[in-house]
Amino acid sequence: MSIIQNDRFLKALARQSVDKTPIWIMRQAGRYLPEYRALRERYDFMTVCKTPELACEVALQPLARFDLDAAIVFSDILTIPDAMGLGLSFQANHGPVFARPLQNQRDIEKLTVPDMRDDLGYVADAVAMLVKELAGKIPVIGFSGSPWTLASYMVEGRSTKEFKKIKKLMFDEPQLLHQLLKVLADSVVAYLAAQIAAGASAVMVFDSWGGVLSTPAYLQFSLHYMQLIMNNLPKIPVILFTKGGGQWLEQMAATGCDAISLDWTVDIGQARQKVNGQVALQGNMDPHVLYASPARIREEVIAVLKSYGPEPGHIFNLGHGILPDVDPERVAVLVNAVHELSCD
Ligand code: CP3
Repeated sequence: MSIIQNDRFLKALARQSVDKTPIWIMRQAGRYLPEYRALRERYDFMTVCKTPELACEVALQPLARFDLDAAIVFSDILTIPDAMGLGLSFQANHGPVFARPLQNQRDIEKLTVPDMRDDLGYVADAVAMLVKELAGKIPVIGFSGSPWTLASYMVEGRSTKEFKKIKKLMFDEPQLLHQLLKVLADSVVAYLAAQIAAGASAVMVFDSWGGVLSTPAYLQFSLHYMQLIMNNLPKIPVILFTKGGGQWLEQMAATGCDAISLDWTVDIGQARQKVNGQVALQGNMDPHVLYASPARIREEVIAVLKSYGPEPGHIFNLGHGILPDVDPERVAVLVNAVHELSCD
């Protein structure tokens, strides 16, 4: 593995001490940046994802503006279901939509692990290009959705707040759901392994919808499959993020992951005590703070840093993705405040 010049992020993941708390931002490449919106006027979202030159250009955009400590490959969690043949498109104001959602047992039984070169090679190519462009300045994060979160989109067919179809499947036909989750876990392992082989220094699993489950359902249908992924990945730092998962931190830490990403509803100081130094913690400022004044943003940065405390193992981030209408100037305030206020 090549040497990374700015290794604050990797050191924090290993719970080693750092000169300043590292920061990166979920969805740091995206619509809040005018240069992203300009590029999106020329290309649709999936074209950007599937063209390594464009994905690489977009991933570099926030790095040209802000002193971020990690890059994340530009892609989406729904590339795997797209490669499985569900026909992904993004429709303005509706978010992702599948032309062929999973509707019955036959649809699920037909699914196989996509070919990582023929069907998803563009993601590894985007990672490799980004790693090359960055020339070791900062590490690159690869990512995937969790099996539960991917299954939710594939069964519901689009974004939902109600989860009626996937939960009906979970209660009525749990074995069929397990079959779906297993093929997704195998796919995620191959997908993350391909990103690691292409040069990613760490990977993050986004379990955006784990938080809608009861505790027994979370353990069986979400965490169990993240554990399978953990057990089968090459040795590399892994960050798990279950949005709304604040009550399961000990169980998440027990998977052997290196870090847990927290949403903003969790007190990060209490979370640190719960996991007892076993894993690093990433987060967790409320994304809406970025609508506030620079002075308030700095106060909130201080609050998160103080709550975590002086121990190593903190990676600053938002508690969820940055909102699309945030003023980029406020992001500069955030990034600079984290670096300035975290060094002794
Ligand atoms: O962090 C980064 O900069 C990397 C990029 C990234 C995207 N999606 C780009 C994107 C990452 C890490 C994701 C993950 C993702 N995608 C998740 C998990 C994280 C989370 O938010 O919980 C989920 C659930 C998705 C699925 C998805 N992709 C949705 C629901 C949407 C539409 C939502 C919206 O805000 O419109 C997307 C589209 C998407 N993915 C955009 C970006 C920049 C916006 C697309 C556009 O340009 O219009």
